[in-house]
Parts: sequence; structure tokens; C-alpha cells
Amino acid sequence: MEFNQEVKKATDPIYQKISKVMPEIEWSIHAPYIHEINKLKKEKNAVILAHNYQTPEIYHGIADFSADSLALAVEASKTSAEIIVMAGVHFMAETAKLMSPNKKVLLPDMEAGCSLSSSITGKDVRLLKQKYPGVPVVSYVNTSADVKAETDVCCTSANAVKIVNSLGVNKVIFLPDDYLAKYVASQTNVEIISWKGICIVHDQFSKNEIINVRKNNPGIKIIAHPECPPEVIKASDFTGSTSGMINYVKDNQPKKVMMVTECSMSDNIQVENPDVEFIRPCNMCPHMKKITLPKILGCLKNETGEIIMDQETISKARLSVEKMVAIGR
Ligand code: 13P
Ligand code: SF4
Repeated sequence: MEFNQEVKKATDPIYQKISKVMPEIEWSIHAPYIHEINKLKKEKNAVILAHNYQTPEIYHGIADFSADSLALAVEASKTSAEIIVMAGVHFMAETAKLMSPNKKVLLPDMEAGCSLSSSITGKDVRLLKQKYPGVPVVSYVNTSADVKAETDVCCTSANAVKIVNSLGVNKVIFLPDDYLAKYVASQTNVEIISWKGICIVHDQFSKNEIINVRKNNPGIKIIAHPECPPEVIKASDFTGSTSGMINYVKDNQPKKVMMVTECSMSDNIQVENPDVEFIRPCNMCPHMKKITLPKILGCLKNETGEIIMDQETISKARLSVEKMVAIGR
């Protein structure tokens, strides 16, 4: 992979956009991959969907669409491309397959998982349904297709409260994120039966960290993802999905902001918000960071990492995602 004149010419407009967040020396390593991937995408009629936690060279360099998990699921259902490459984690690729079962969906690293998704199985949900007969099951989209197949309706961090309220019941089983369940409970009158799953990234933030950041940065706005512990959410100025957090910064243009979430978020949106100063005691998601440009290139070239699911699971799991999409954000 050589950073030659052809590569430089083709990728320069992208670099001009992100030069403030990436040194030239680093760009010269990424650019040949970006050029190759962007050519191959066209040849193969492939689309790259990227989650907001992907690194800037993926987010700005090759993604056709970058978003939170709700918008990624919707986009997967609409695309006319033949191949979808998910620059994200396994549950996101599975959700894309559920929404577009006839498309080839590829994940560049099959080990890119999620601590929430791996905290619960389809069998666990069946046991819960036996224990609480008739109580509807709302599952976070951060779950496997087996769990979704046992679920009445999915939700994401962008619409969890709306989805729970839409059911018109006084009790729901809400899986698997215990902190998101507590957040939803604080926003509704519905009784929530939760599971003990946590996100290993957001669980690391503490109230003391927030208090210290505020002390050292008077006037700062602190915005948190709802996967954070309840006391962190309480100490923050705003709570929303990754796209909700991005929109908060775009719309409010705070002088200083701390995004209580994964590290790449601040890097990615610094580009479009040059006047905002990002204070970054952030945490890295080891799963999201498994996705790299060389892996994306290899997976697209050889069409490896295909998401395969049996027809019965697809049909059952798809219903819960479709219901969520119909209710919306
Ligand atoms: P969003 O749906 O807010 O993008 O969150 C997905 C996720 O995995 C956050 O940790
Ligand atoms: Fe899962 Fe947390 Fe990583 Fe999101 S940040 S993919 S919830 S482990």
C-alpha cells in the first residue's frame, strides 16, 4: 500500500476536511486503504454503514452513512446496494441482515461483539417469559438475533422511553441494560423488570469524574449516553443516543463540552464543530476498535465475514425490529 500521487490526488479533499484532527503522517498510512476501499465499493455496488464510534478515518474517509444504531437499522432497510459492510459491531450487522435479508451483509471482524449483547441469550428470555407470563419484552437493539426472536419490540437509546410508553401497559421486561432500564424507569410510570447487563465502556464513568471536570472547567456542558450509571446521568446536562449527543453539540455550540461516551465521538464531530472545545476523559470500546481499514478492505475484497442466519430466526427477530422502526425516534 503506497501513498503515491494518484492516492494523494483522490484522497486530498477528504484530508482537507479532517486535517485538524489527524496529523499528515497518520493520513499517509490510511489514505492508500481509503482510496482502495472507495474504488472497490463502486465496483461491487457496496455500501459502508458506520457507527458513530468508528475512528475518524472510517467515519470521514469511507463511510457512506454514519449514525446511531437506530438510523443504521433504518438505512440498512432502504439501501439499494448489493453488499452492506457494517463498520460497527456484530449485533449491528445482524440487525442490518434482519432488515435486508436478501443482501449480503459483511462484518470486517466477527470478534467485534458487545458486553450487553453477550450478557443474555434467547434461552434466558424464554425463562423470563415463563416467570412473568403476559408481560411484554422490550429488548435493546444491542442483543443477538436469538434474543430479538423472543422479543415483542426492540428499542435503541434514541427511542427506549417512547417504545415502552407506546405499549400502554403498566409492566414490561426490559433487556439487557440495567442502567438504560433505570433511565427509562425514571422517565415513565411503567414498572420495569430489568436484567443485569452493562456496557463495559459507559460503566467506567463516575460521578466524581464529572464533578472534577465541572470544577476544572466552569461553564462546561456535560452530555451523557443513557448506558451510563444513573448517578452519572443525573450529574449531566443532557442525555441522548450517540446521534442525539451529536445534534446537541451542533445545535447548541457549547464553548466547552464533555461527551460522556466512547472516545471517537469527539474526534469525529470536532471536524464539523471547530469552535467547540472537547474535554476528553473518554473511554474506548474494544469491540468497535476491532474494525480497521485493512480489515474492511480484506472483507470487501474477499467478501468474508458474511452474516448467516436461519430463516426462522430472521422471520421472528425481524418483527421486533420492524415494530421499533415503525414507532420511530
Ligand atoms: P447508539 O444507539 O446511541 O448509537 O448506541 C449504540 C451503542 O452501542 C452505544 O454504546
Ligand atoms: Fe457494546 Fe458498550 Fe461497545 Fe456500545 S460501547 S458496542 S454498548 S460494549
